[in-house]
Amino acid sequence: MIKGVVLAGGKGTRLWPVTKVAGKHFLPVGDKPIIYYPILTLKKAGVKDILIVCGPEHTEQYVRLLGSGEEFGVNLYYTIQVEPVGIAHGLGLARSFSDGQKIALILGDNIFGDEFSKAFASFDKRDQGAAVVLKRVPDPKRFGVAKFKGHKVERIIEKPKRPPSSWAVTGLYLYDNRVFDVIKSLKPSARGEYEITDVNNRYINEGTMDFIKTKKFWIDAGTFESLHQANLLVRKNRNLR
Ligand code: G1P
Repeated sequence: MIKGVVLAGGKGTRLWPVTKVAGKHFLPVGDKPIIYYPILTLKKAGVKDILIVCGPEHTEQYVRLLGSGEEFGVNLYYTIQVEPVGIAHGLGLARSFSDGQKIALILGDNIFGDEFSKAFASFDKRDQGAAVVLKRVPDPKRFGVAKFKGHKVERIIEKPKRPPSSWAVTGLYLYDNRVFDVIKSLKPSARGEYEITDVNNRYINEGTMDFIKTKKFWIDAGTFESLHQANLLVRKNRNLR
């Protein structure tokens, strides 16, 4: 059984002054707060137990908004990432929650037009390894980007100045439970964060990384521009409303 983690830490500085007081994940997209979308993405993919990793500023609000998870038909649990020192660090906080199971990690501001129940079911059958969701984007410099050799991804490069392809690594990842040992062995990057891209490159080097390409829309609603885009896209996609 795959357990879920929604990463909702971070200070949302790219949305200041709006997020100086209100947390980014509570802002509206369509008729819902942003954080509803990643929770629903995991739920639709068949995940029942979900850990919300919150920043310390808004813990109480997360619990008040989302509660036990009953409204979503899932079980929600909460923990706190005291310092926003990277996605991999946030995932590392889920070790005891994971209880030896596989993990699906989704970033709290990521909105997907697609649904992933088949991809999750086939990952659940695998012995070991990882998978990430890729999406073609016009502005790959903002993301982790896949570098291909033929049809194979040989490496992911984080925020490349010269992107080797237009395939961005989205904020939806699947890992076997060894990921927690990989995280323990990481060193912080130049921007002082424990990078999820370093984790992903370990699995690529091992030859156990799968790639799921999504053709439907994907948005990380972390900037004013992308928040606006997300609102437009969700309006057009009735199944997300
Ligand atoms: C993070 C990851 C990056 C990924 C992106 C997706 O970037 O480091 O590889 O493409 O999320 O939203 P960050 O939001 O930390 O800049």
